[in-house]
Amino acid sequence: MRSSLSLSGILLGLLALSAVGCDADSGMDEVTPDPNRDYPALKTLAVHPVGVAIQAVHLSSTERTTVIKKVFNSITAEWEMKMNPISVGPGSYNWSGADALVDFAEENGMQVHGHTLVWHQTTPSWMENFGGDDEAFEEAVKEYMMTVIARYKGRVVSWDVINEAFDDERGELRNSVFRQRMGDDYIARLFRYAREADPDLLLFYNDYGLTWSLPKRRAVMRMLDDFQERGIPIDGVGLQMHMAWDGPPLEEITETIDEVVKRGLKLHLSELDVRINTDGNLQSWNEERGNIQKERVKELVAAFNRIPEEQRFAITLWGLRDPDTWLIDFYDRPEWPLLFDARLLPKPAYYGFVEALQEAQ
Ligand code: XIL
Repeated sequence: MRSSLSLSGILLGLLALSAVGCDADSGMDEVTPDPNRDYPALKTLAVHPVGVAIQAVHLSSTERTTVIKKVFNSITAEWEMKMNPISVGPGSYNWSGADALVDFAEENGMQVHGHTLVWHQTTPSWMENFGGDDEAFEEAVKEYMMTVIARYKGRVVSWDVINEAFDDERGELRNSVFRQRMGDDYIARLFRYAREADPDLLLFYNDYGLTWSLPKRRAVMRMLDDFQERGIPIDGVGLQMHMAWDGPPLEEITETIDEVVKRGLKLHLSELDVRINTDGNLQSWNEERGNIQKERVKELVAAFNRIPEEQRFAITLWGLRDPDTWLIDFYDRPEWPLLFDARLLPKPAYYGFVEALQEAQ
């Protein structure tokens, strides 16, 4: 599947298509990779960590874990390290998924990027409908953060302290329960609590759309400047790279990257996926779009490898195989946005990543 499509490539494509309709979250559909297939591993070509978002259910598939171990040296929990799955009640925690993922990473010498301590989309209902006063609310949030950070101290290298705090249209703070209960300066206090919990932890702000929403980009940059002026601890920014074959343009991406880099922070190109079915017209894998996808991945990885090495935190794929992607459910249409196809074979986009790394050496 490198550049020209052979008959066997077409057959593989048809087989891949049959797996696409599977539940994106089940992760247990058929995969029959060729264990002898030889392709270069991203982690050995890159000077920075290369990560993938996975779920604990994926760990029971040897076919998957073989590829994950071969290619990546960092993992992020796609779901199980968010507040909702962990915080089942006040002072009550479910560690099963998170523990399984952190254990797996440790056993295989991979780093873990924690995602995410606070996110308005995964607030547990007990917290959303908190009965106590504002002070007690903040104590509960702090206790949650302290407990989670302490549990994985030394095993999780970095956490997204908060995810997606600003809106797209005006770059204003989202009016989440955290903002309502803790006030406009709540993000600074979350970062302070995280640093207090573990002084060695790398602390990230993570968000999408900083490329295409100028108001949001400006708001985040204002927050970073304010943090740096006031001495609020922050180590890096995660730019969620939910991209498409037709946008955002590379210039918008590099402008945003430069804004982070000039503030001396680490850069995480987090949550990378590149949609090819933006118009919804594709019912099957399309080679032409797939080659554009490859070029998009290549230009992105090249841009990342041009920033100072000490600021390259990681690039993280938001899923392993195309049928695993959250985007199929999110847009309710077929999609092929990742680096591996349904049969766990590397796609052209994988070789785009490889080529950018090789050319950066
Ligand atoms: C998504 C996961 O991929 C899904 O499996 C889950 O059901 C919902 O969350 N931005 C983020 C990620 O920061 O945490 C989201 O992940 C995708 C959008």
